[in-house]
Amino acid sequence: MEALQITGGIPLNGSIGVLGAKNAVLKHLVATLLAPGTHVLSNVPDIVDVRLMCEVLEHVGARCVADGTTRTVTVPEVLSAEAPLDVVRKMRASILVLGALLTRVGSVRIALPGGDDFGTRPIDMHLDGLARLGAEFESRDGVLYGEAPRGLIGADVDLGFPSVGATENILLAAVMAKGTTVLTNAAREPELEDLASYLTAMGAKVVGAGTSRIEIHGVPELVAATYSVVPDRLEAGTYLLAGAASRGEVTVVNCVPDHLRMELSKMRAAGCDVTIGESTITVSGPERPTAVDFATLPYPGFHTDMHPQMVAFLASGDGTSIMTENLYSGRFRYIEMLNRMGAAIRTDGQHVVIDGQSTLVGATVDACDIRAGAAMVIAALAAAGTTTIVDASHLDRGYTDLEPKLKSLGATIARIAL
Ligand code: EPU
Repeated sequence: MEALQITGGIPLNGSIGVLGAKNAVLKHLVATLLAPGTHVLSNVPDIVDVRLMCEVLEHVGARCVADGTTRTVTVPEVLSAEAPLDVVRKMRASILVLGALLTRVGSVRIALPGGDDFGTRPIDMHLDGLARLGAEFESRDGVLYGEAPRGLIGADVDLGFPSVGATENILLAAVMAKGTTVLTNAAREPELEDLASYLTAMGAKVVGAGTSRIEIHGVPELVAATYSVVPDRLEAGTYLLAGAASRGEVTVVNCVPDHLRMELSKMRAAGCDVTIGESTITVSGPERPTAVDFATLPYPGFHTDMHPQMVAFLASGDGTSIMTENLYSGRFRYIEMLNRMGAAIRTDGQHVVIDGQSTLVGATVDACDIRAGAAMVIAALAAAGTTTIVDASHLDRGYTDLEPKLKSLGATIARIAL
C-alpha cells in the first residue's frame, strides 16, 4: 500500500494546468464503440479509471493505444457483447457500455457495477430508459443480461431525477436508434454536454445537450472522430481549494471557469479572492475562511464531488458552516478522518455541521475514495505538522501527477510505500 506524506502550513503559489475531465473521457471512450474505425481522443488524463475503461474496450474487441495525453482507439466492425466482469465490478462508469453494446451488438452481458462506496447507487433509471427504447433485461447471480430483440427505437423518456449516467446511457443508445428520442429532466452537466459534442463530431444529431430537454434524432451510422476532452472542473476546483486552504494563491490554466460558477461563488463567500480569465481562474485564500452554508445539487448546483474538499477547507474556518448532501446517502466516511486532524464536524442525517477550528494538526488518515482523498490533501496542506494519507491509490483514480503538481506549487509532499 502507498501513502502520501504532506507537511502543512506552507502557502502554495503558482500556476498549474488541468487535463480532460475523468467523468467525460470515460464516456467518450465508450462512445468510440459506436463507430468502427480509428478515433483519436486528446487531453486525456493518465488515471486508473481511464486504464480500466480501456480494458473494458479491449475486452469487447477494440484496441487502445496511449501516447502521452492522446488515446487512439481502433474499433472493429464486430464487437463482443460481454464486458469484463472483474473490471466492471471495480468501476461503476463501465455500466455505460449498455447503450453502446445494445446498439452495436444487439445484446450485452455485464456485471452489476461497483465503484465508490457512497451508499446505494442503483441503475434503475438506466434500465428503465433503455427499456423505453426497446431493450429487455434480466439479472442472475450479479450479472445483467440485456438484449434488443427488435433493435432500439426512439421514444420519450422522462427521468425521475437528472442522473448523469442514465442520461448518458440513453443518449448513447438513442444516437443510432430508429426515430427520435426526447429526454426530459435530463442531466445538464458539462461532461454530458461534451459527450454530446463528441457524438455530434461522429455524425450524431443531438439538440439541447446542456439543458434539461435533449432531442436525439437517430442516424443509421456514425464515423470515427478526433476530439479534445473538456477540462476537468473537479481537478481545477481541488487545486484552487488546496491553494486557498494553504493561504496561498493558485492559478489554474486551461480550464472553463463557467463550469465552476457555483463552487467559486461559495469560495468567494468564504473569503477567497477569485479572479476569472477566459480560461484561467486564480484563487487566493483568506487568513481563515468565513463560515458558509451550501448544498450539493445537480449542475449548475454545487457539485457533490467538490463537497468533501470544501468541507476540508471550512474545517479551519471562523464560525459554523452547514453543508447538505443531496445526491449520496453514504459519503461521510472522510469526516472521521478530518476529525482525527482536530476538525469538529458532525453529521445529522444528510447535513454536515462544521465548527471551524483555528488549527488542524497532522495525523494518519485514510483516503477512503477519490474526493475524500482530495479532502485529506487539502486539510493536510492547511494543518500544522505532517499528515500521512494511507490508501493513496484512491487519488490515482481521479488525479494525474498529483505530487509533481503540488510540488511545483511549493508543497512538501512525498509518496511512500508502507
Ligand atoms: N441514481 C438512481 N438510479 C439510477 C441512477 C442514479 O437512483 O439509475 C441516483 C444515484 O444513486 C445518486 C444520484 O442518482 O444518488 C446521482 O447519480 P448519477 O447517476 O447522476 O451519478 P453517476 O452517473 O453514477 C456521475 C459521476 C460521479 C458524480 C455523479 C453526480 C461519473 C463516472 N461519475 O456518477 O462522479 O458524483 O455523476 O454528479 O461520471 C467522482 O468523479 O468522484 C464521482 C463519483
